[in-house]
Amino acid sequence: MTLSRLEIIRPDDWHLHLRDGDALASVIGHTARQFARAIVMPNLKPPVTTVAQAEDYRRRILASLPAGSRFQPLMTLYLTETTPPAEIVRAKASDSVVAVKYYPAGATTNSQSGVRELSHVYPVLEAMEKHDLPLLLHGEVTDPDIDIFDRERVFIERHLMPLREKFPALRMVLEHITTHDAVQFVHAAPTHVAATITAHHLLLNRNALFEGGMRPHNYCAPILKRETHRAALLQAATSGDPHFFLGTDSAPHPREAKETDCGCAGLYTAHAALELYAEAFDQAGRLDKLEAFASFHGPDFYRLPRNADRIVLERTPWIVPEEYPLAGSTCKPMRAGESVAWSVVDTAIA
Ligand code: NCD
Ligand code: ZN
Repeated sequence: MTLSRLEIIRPDDWHLHLRDGDALASVIGHTARQFARAIVMPNLKPPVTTVAQAEDYRRRILASLPAGSRFQPLMTLYLTETTPPAEIVRAKASDSVVAVKYYPAGATTNSQSGVRELSHVYPVLEAMEKHDLPLLLHGEVTDPDIDIFDRERVFIERHLMPLREKFPALRMVLEHITTHDAVQFVHAAPTHVAATITAHHLLLNRNALFEGGMRPHNYCAPILKRETHRAALLQAATSGDPHFFLGTDSAPHPREAKETDCGCAGLYTAHAALELYAEAFDQAGRLDKLEAFASFHGPDFYRLPRNADRIVLERTPWIVPEEYPLAGSTCKPMRAGESVAWSVVDTAIA
Protein backbone atom coordinates (compact mmCIF):
# COMPACT_ATOMS: atom_id res chain seq x y z
CA MET A 1 0.00 0.00 0.00
CA THR A 2 1.39 3.42 -0.88
CA LEU A 3 1.20 5.90 1.89
CA SER A 4 -0.29 9.24 0.79
CA ARG A 5 -0.33 11.11 4.10
CA LEU A 6 2.26 11.26 6.85
CA GLU A 7 1.91 12.95 10.23
CA ILE A 8 5.06 13.33 12.31
CA ILE A 9 6.37 15.29 15.29
CA ARG A 10 7.66 18.66 14.05
CA PRO A 11 11.27 18.31 12.85
CA ASP A 12 14.36 20.46 13.51
CA ASP A 13 17.18 21.36 11.12
CA TRP A 14 20.52 20.51 12.76
CA HIS A 15 22.70 22.34 10.17
CA LEU A 16 21.55 25.53 8.48
CA HIS A 17 22.94 28.72 6.91
CA LEU A 18 20.65 31.70 7.51
CA ARG A 19 23.08 34.48 6.44
CA ASP A 20 22.41 37.98 7.79
CA GLY A 21 20.69 41.28 7.01
CA ASP A 22 18.42 41.35 3.94
CA ALA A 23 19.41 37.80 2.94
CA LEU A 24 18.36 36.51 6.36
CA ALA A 25 15.01 38.25 5.98
CA SER A 26 14.58 36.65 2.53
CA VAL A 27 15.15 33.03 3.64
CA ILE A 28 14.10 32.68 7.28
CA GLY A 29 10.39 32.13 6.49
CA HIS A 30 11.11 28.92 4.59
CA THR A 31 12.81 27.31 7.57
CA ALA A 32 10.45 28.71 10.22
CA ARG A 33 7.47 27.31 8.26
CA GLN A 34 8.37 23.71 8.99
CA PHE A 35 11.15 23.44 11.56
CA ALA A 36 10.82 24.25 15.28
CA ARG A 37 14.57 24.83 15.77
CA ALA A 38 17.72 24.98 13.71
CA ILE A 39 21.43 24.94 14.43
CA VAL A 40 22.60 28.14 12.78
CA MET A 41 26.05 28.10 11.19
CA PRO A 42 28.43 30.91 12.18
CA ASN A 43 30.21 31.48 8.83
CA LEU A 44 29.19 35.11 8.43
CA LYS A 45 31.56 37.86 7.33
CA PRO A 46 33.14 38.41 9.85
CA PRO A 47 32.57 35.02 11.49
CA VAL A 48 30.62 34.61 14.73
CA THR A 49 33.47 33.79 17.12
CA THR A 50 32.22 35.02 20.50
CA VAL A 51 29.16 34.41 22.64
CA ALA A 52 28.39 38.13 22.51
CA GLN A 53 28.37 38.04 18.68
CA ALA A 54 26.23 34.87 18.69
CA GLU A 55 23.70 36.51 20.98
CA ASP A 56 23.51 39.59 18.75
CA TYR A 57 23.07 37.38 15.69
CA ARG A 58 20.35 35.41 17.50
CA ARG A 59 18.48 38.66 18.22
CA ARG A 60 18.69 39.64 14.53
CA ILE A 61 17.27 36.24 13.55
CA LEU A 62 14.40 36.52 16.03
CA ALA A 63 13.66 40.05 14.80
CA SER A 64 13.40 38.84 11.19
CA LEU A 65 10.91 36.03 11.91
CA PRO A 66 7.41 36.19 10.46
CA ALA A 67 4.86 37.42 13.02
CA GLY A 68 3.68 34.71 15.37
CA SER A 69 6.53 32.30 14.58
CA ARG A 70 7.86 30.25 17.48
CA PHE A 71 11.02 29.19 15.64
CA GLN A 72 14.10 28.93 17.91
CA PRO A 73 17.60 29.51 16.50
CA LEU A 74 20.31 27.46 18.26
CA MET A 75 23.62 29.28 17.95
CA THR A 76 27.16 28.10 17.23
CA LEU A 77 30.62 29.64 17.56
CA TYR A 78 33.14 29.62 14.73
CA LEU A 79 36.34 27.99 15.99
CA THR A 80 39.55 29.85 15.15
CA GLU A 81 43.16 29.31 16.17
CA THR A 82 42.79 32.27 18.53
CA THR A 83 39.55 31.19 20.26
CA PRO A 84 40.36 31.33 24.00
CA PRO A 85 39.27 28.34 26.12
CA ALA A 86 37.46 30.90 28.34
CA GLU A 87 35.00 31.45 25.46
CA ILE A 88 33.93 27.81 25.86
CA VAL A 89 33.08 28.44 29.50
CA ARG A 90 31.04 31.50 28.47
CA ALA A 91 29.30 29.46 25.73
CA LYS A 92 28.39 26.69 28.13
CA ALA A 93 26.98 29.22 30.59
CA SER A 94 24.88 30.95 27.90
CA ASP A 95 21.45 29.67 26.99
CA SER A 96 21.92 30.46 23.32
CA VAL A 97 25.15 28.75 22.14
CA VAL A 98 24.86 24.97 21.80
CA ALA A 99 27.98 23.98 19.85
CA VAL A 100 31.26 25.06 18.23
CA LYS A 101 31.91 24.70 14.49
CA TYR A 102 35.24 23.62 13.01
CA TYR A 103 36.02 24.72 9.46
CA PRO A 104 39.34 23.76 7.92
CA ALA A 105 40.75 27.01 6.53
CA GLY A 106 39.86 27.33 2.86
CA ALA A 107 37.37 24.41 2.66
CA THR A 108 34.20 26.34 1.84
CA THR A 109 32.28 29.66 1.93
CA ASN A 110 33.82 32.12 4.45
CA SER A 111 36.23 29.58 5.92
CA GLN A 112 39.33 31.80 5.66
CA SER A 113 39.40 32.26 9.45
CA GLY A 114 39.14 28.52 10.03
CA VAL A 115 41.70 26.18 11.55
CA ARG A 116 44.99 25.50 9.73
CA GLU A 117 46.41 22.98 12.17
CA LEU A 118 44.14 21.01 14.51
CA SER A 119 46.76 20.76 17.26
CA HIS A 120 46.62 24.56 17.59
CA VAL A 121 43.08 24.29 18.98
CA TYR A 122 43.69 21.35 21.35
CA PRO A 123 43.33 23.57 24.46
CA VAL A 124 39.90 24.67 23.22
CA LEU A 125 38.88 21.08 22.45
CA GLU A 126 39.99 20.07 25.92
CA ALA A 127 37.73 22.75 27.39
CA MET A 128 34.86 21.56 25.18
CA GLU A 129 35.36 17.98 26.30
CA LYS A 130 35.48 19.08 29.92
CA HIS A 131 32.41 21.34 29.69
CA ASP A 132 30.55 18.98 27.37
CA LEU A 133 30.02 21.33 24.44
CA PRO A 134 29.67 19.52 21.08
CA LEU A 135 32.13 20.05 18.22
CA LEU A 136 30.57 20.24 14.75
CA LEU A 137 33.02 19.25 12.06
CA HIS A 138 33.27 20.27 8.45
CA GLY A 139 35.15 17.04 7.81
CA GLU A 140 37.34 17.71 4.78
CA VAL A 141 41.06 18.17 4.23
CA THR A 142 42.04 20.97 1.88
CA ASP A 143 45.52 19.83 0.80
CA PRO A 144 45.90 20.58 -2.90
CA ASP A 145 47.44 17.14 -3.50
CA ILE A 146 44.28 15.33 -2.31
CA ASP A 147 41.60 14.64 -4.90
CA ILE A 148 38.52 16.74 -4.12
CA PHE A 149 36.33 13.60 -4.06
CA ASP A 150 38.62 12.09 -1.36
CA ARG A 151 38.65 15.09 0.99
CA GLU A 152 36.18 13.57 3.46
CA ARG A 153 37.69 10.08 3.51
CA VAL A 154 41.19 11.46 4.11
CA PHE A 155 39.91 13.79 6.86
CA ILE A 156 38.48 10.77 8.71
CA GLU A 157 41.77 8.85 8.47
CA ARG A 158 44.14 11.71 9.19
CA HIS A 159 42.22 13.84 11.65
CA LEU A 160 38.99 12.32 12.95
CA MET A 161 40.41 9.01 14.09
CA PRO A 162 43.25 10.67 16.08
CA LEU A 163 40.77 13.24 17.46
CA ARG A 164 38.52 10.47 18.76
CA GLU A 165 41.49 8.91 20.55
CA LYS A 166 42.74 12.15 22.03
CA PHE A 167 39.31 13.40 23.16
CA PRO A 168 37.25 10.24 23.74
CA ALA A 169 34.45 12.00 25.64
CA LEU A 170 34.11 14.95 23.24
CA ARG A 171 30.67 15.01 21.63
CA MET A 172 31.08 15.44 17.88
CA VAL A 173 28.87 15.75 14.81
CA LEU A 174 30.43 15.01 11.45
CA GLU A 175 28.37 17.44 9.41
CA HIS A 176 26.79 16.84 5.98
CA ILE A 177 28.43 13.45 5.44
CA THR A 178 28.81 12.34 1.83
CA THR A 179 30.63 9.00 1.81
CA HIS A 180 30.31 5.35 2.69
CA ASP A 181 33.50 5.83 4.75
CA ALA A 182 31.81 8.44 6.95
CA VAL A 183 28.75 6.24 7.42
CA GLN A 184 30.95 3.35 8.55
CA PHE A 185 33.00 5.49 10.92
CA VAL A 186 29.98 7.09 12.60
CA HIS A 187 27.96 3.87 12.73
CA ALA A 188 30.81 2.14 14.59
CA ALA A 189 31.31 5.02 17.06
CA PRO A 190 29.51 5.53 20.38
CA THR A 191 26.31 7.60 20.09
CA HIS A 192 28.04 10.78 21.31
CA VAL A 193 29.60 10.81 17.82
CA ALA A 194 26.89 11.51 15.25
CA ALA A 195 26.38 12.79 11.70
CA THR A 196 23.97 15.00 9.80
CA ILE A 197 22.87 14.15 6.25
CA THR A 198 21.48 16.66 3.72
CA ALA A 199 18.50 16.05 1.43
CA HIS A 200 20.61 16.84 -1.63
CA HIS A 201 23.23 14.22 -0.78
CA LEU A 202 20.39 11.67 -0.39
CA LEU A 203 18.84 12.57 -3.75
CA LEU A 204 21.75 13.46 -6.05
CA ASN A 205 25.01 11.86 -7.06
CA ARG A 206 27.92 13.56 -8.81
CA ASN A 207 26.37 13.06 -12.27
CA ALA A 208 24.11 15.98 -11.29
CA LEU A 209 27.16 18.26 -11.59
CA PHE A 210 27.41 17.64 -15.33
CA GLU A 211 23.87 16.78 -16.50
CA GLY A 212 23.79 18.14 -20.05
CA GLY A 213 26.54 20.64 -19.19
CA MET A 214 28.06 22.31 -16.12
CA ARG A 215 25.49 22.70 -13.34
CA PRO A 216 26.80 25.27 -10.84
CA HIS A 217 23.63 25.12 -8.73
CA ASN A 218 24.48 21.52 -7.82
CA TYR A 219 27.96 22.50 -6.61
CA CYS A 220 28.32 22.31 -2.83
CA ALA A 221 30.83 21.43 -0.15
CA PRO A 222 31.43 18.60 0.41
CA ILE A 223 30.99 17.92 -3.31
CA LEU A 224 28.41 15.33 -4.49
CA LYS A 225 29.89 11.83 -4.66
CA ARG A 226 29.38 8.73 -6.81
CA GLU A 227 26.19 6.65 -6.64
CA THR A 228 27.56 3.99 -4.28
CA HIS A 229 28.10 6.70 -1.65
CA ARG A 230 24.62 8.17 -2.14
CA ALA A 231 23.17 4.68 -1.65
CA ALA A 232 25.16 4.23 1.59
CA LEU A 233 23.86 7.59 2.91
CA LEU A 234 20.27 6.67 2.07
CA GLN A 235 20.68 3.34 3.81
CA ALA A 236 22.10 5.04 6.93
CA ALA A 237 19.46 7.78 7.07
CA THR A 238 16.58 5.33 6.71
CA SER A 239 18.01 2.64 8.99
CA GLY A 240 16.66 4.02 12.27
CA ASP A 241 20.24 4.30 13.62
CA PRO A 242 20.26 7.23 16.13
CA HIS A 243 23.75 8.31 14.97
CA PHE A 244 22.20 9.94 11.89
CA PHE A 245 19.90 12.97 11.77
CA LEU A 246 18.55 15.74 9.57
CA GLY A 247 20.71 18.75 8.68
CA THR A 248 19.82 20.48 5.43
CA ASP A 249 22.98 22.58 5.00
CA SER A 250 20.67 24.84 3.01
CA ALA A 251 23.11 27.54 1.85
CA PRO A 252 21.65 30.39 -0.21
CA HIS A 253 23.85 32.30 -2.63
CA PRO A 254 22.77 34.98 -5.11
CA ARG A 255 22.41 33.49 -8.57
CA GLU A 256 25.25 35.62 -9.96
CA ALA A 257 27.65 34.29 -7.29
CA LYS A 258 27.04 30.73 -8.53
CA GLU A 259 26.74 31.29 -12.28
CA THR A 260 30.24 32.65 -12.67
CA ASP A 261 33.89 31.75 -12.93
CA CYS A 262 34.83 30.43 -9.46
CA GLY A 263 31.22 30.12 -8.28
CA CYS A 264 30.23 29.63 -4.62
CA ALA A 265 29.47 26.26 -3.03
CA GLY A 266 26.00 25.62 -1.61
CA LEU A 267 22.53 24.36 -2.51
CA TYR A 268 19.38 26.16 -1.38
CA THR A 269 16.90 23.58 -0.08
CA ALA A 270 15.04 25.31 2.77
CA HIS A 271 12.00 26.01 0.56
CA ALA A 272 11.25 22.28 0.29
CA ALA A 273 13.42 20.70 2.95
CA LEU A 274 11.16 18.16 4.61
CA GLU A 275 9.41 17.43 1.30
CA LEU A 276 12.75 16.51 -0.31
CA TYR A 277 13.69 14.25 2.60
CA ALA A 278 10.24 12.60 2.31
CA GLU A 279 10.97 11.89 -1.36
CA ALA A 280 14.27 10.26 -0.48
CA PHE A 281 12.78 8.11 2.29
CA ASP A 282 9.87 7.21 0.00
CA GLN A 283 12.33 6.08 -2.71
CA ALA A 284 13.91 3.77 -0.14
CA GLY A 285 10.47 2.48 0.93
CA ARG A 286 11.19 3.74 4.47
CA LEU A 287 8.80 6.63 5.11
CA ASP A 288 8.17 5.02 8.48
CA LYS A 289 11.73 6.00 9.49
CA LEU A 290 11.47 9.69 8.55
CA GLU A 291 10.13 10.86 11.92
CA ALA A 292 13.00 9.42 13.97
CA PHE A 293 15.62 10.87 11.56
CA ALA A 294 13.94 14.30 11.32
CA SER A 295 12.47 14.76 14.79
CA PHE A 296 14.00 12.40 17.40
CA HIS A 297 17.69 11.65 16.87
CA GLY A 298 18.81 15.31 16.74
CA PRO A 299 17.22 16.48 20.03
CA ASP A 300 18.34 13.25 21.70
CA PHE A 301 21.97 13.94 20.70
CA TYR A 302 21.81 17.60 21.81
CA ARG A 303 19.94 16.60 25.01
CA LEU A 304 17.05 18.91 24.18
CA PRO A 305 13.37 17.99 24.46
CA ARG A 306 11.73 16.53 21.38
CA ASN A 307 9.08 18.85 19.91
CA ALA A 308 5.49 18.26 20.94
CA ASP A 309 3.46 19.59 18.00
CA ARG A 310 3.05 17.78 14.69
CA ILE A 311 3.35 18.42 10.97
CA VAL A 312 1.47 16.76 8.10
CA LEU A 313 2.87 15.78 4.70
CA GLU A 314 0.77 14.67 1.73
CA ARG A 315 1.77 13.03 -1.51
CA THR A 316 0.65 16.07 -3.54
CA PRO A 317 3.16 17.24 -6.15
CA TRP A 318 3.97 20.92 -6.61
CA ILE A 319 6.26 22.87 -8.89
CA VAL A 320 9.15 24.73 -7.30
CA PRO A 321 9.45 28.38 -8.47
CA GLU A 322 12.34 29.19 -10.82
CA GLU A 323 13.79 31.52 -8.20
CA TYR A 324 13.21 33.12 -4.83
CA PRO A 325 14.17 36.67 -3.80
CA LEU A 326 17.50 36.88 -1.97
CA ALA A 327 18.34 40.34 -0.62
CA GLY A 328 18.60 42.51 -3.77
CA SER A 329 19.05 39.49 -6.02
CA THR A 330 17.55 36.04 -6.53
CA CYS A 331 18.46 32.51 -5.53
CA LYS A 332 17.85 29.44 -7.67
CA PRO A 333 16.51 26.69 -5.36
CA MET A 334 16.95 22.93 -5.69
CA ARG A 335 14.41 21.55 -8.22
CA ALA A 336 13.75 25.03 -9.67
CA GLY A 337 10.90 24.76 -12.21
CA GLU A 338 10.51 21.06 -11.44
CA SER A 339 8.21 18.95 -9.36
CA VAL A 340 8.54 17.85 -5.72
CA ALA A 341 6.38 14.84 -4.86
CA TRP A 342 5.38 15.75 -1.29
CA SER A 343 3.79 18.84 0.25
CA VAL A 344 3.66 20.03 3.84
CA VAL A 345 -0.05 20.70 4.23
CA ASP A 346 -0.55 21.48 7.89
CA THR A 347 2.02 22.72 10.32
CA ALA A 348 -0.05 23.74 13.31
CA ILE A 349 -1.62 20.62 14.77
CA ALA A 350 -1.22 20.64 18.54
C1 NCD B 1 28.11 26.49 2.82
C2 NCD B 1 27.86 27.98 2.66
O1 NCD B 1 27.60 28.44 1.54
O2 NCD B 1 27.90 28.70 3.66
N1 NCD B 1 28.27 25.90 1.51
C3 NCD B 1 28.11 24.61 1.19
O3 NCD B 1 28.38 24.25 0.04
N2 NCD B 1 27.65 23.73 2.04
C4 NCD B 1 29.27 26.26 3.71
C5 NCD B 1 29.44 24.83 4.16
O4 NCD B 1 28.66 24.33 4.97
O5 NCD B 1 30.37 24.18 3.68
ZN1 ZN C 1 27.05 24.08 6.01
